[in-house]
Amino acid sequence: MAGAPIAAAPAAATAAAQFPQPQRDYILACGGCHGLNGVSNSSLVPSLKGLVGYYLYLPEGRAYLPRLPNVAFSTLSDEQLAAVLNYMVFDIGAGSAPAGTHPYRAAEVGKWRRQPLTEVTLSEYRQRMVEILIDRYHAPAALRGYSASSGQ
Ligand code: HEC
Repeated sequence: MAGAPIAAAPAAATAAAQFPQPQRDYILACGGCHGLNGVSNSSLVPSLKGLVGYYLYLPEGRAYLPRLPNVAFSTLSDEQLAAVLNYMVFDIGAGSAPAGTHPYRAAEVGKWRRQPLTEVTLSEYRQRMVEILIDRYHAPAALRGYSASSGQ
């Protein structure tokens, strides 16, 4: 792998082709930063595995996911993006969303992605939700930081 930057993208695309569509879209559009299984390699990128569904306890958390800049500005259609978010919440985030959570629909995603958060508003918006989720919904404290493995 190392030292073959030209081959890397086609190889990833070929490997991704064997997965169902939403997972494939996740791998290609999100996995480079968030990791194929939602465990990010960088402390600057939040881990999603087993965590991301907690946001769906709050209405503003449900809106948060499609309003994230990298999500909102993705080239995927509203339909594809809804499917990716559902894959992310229910597979990668398995066990973290409240019971009975209904899946994202294209119209809902379309509405929120047109009101994207900016770098200025994002961290404050997130911090407020994260404290509520830890206090009230027993989300793990790992949600405070970006790295699930460090546990902070
Ligand atoms: C270029 C790297 C990159 C890509 C591509 C990317 N993200 Fe992110 N993502 C980030 C960063 C960095 C953050 C932290 C917030 C910010 O700065 O936007 C983030 C935040 C998030 C969060 C918030 C998690 C939390 O606990 O606050 C979710 C959910 C998310 N991204 C999902 C996605 C999905 C879904 C895609 C694909 C459609 C995607 N991201 C594509 C880098 C990326």
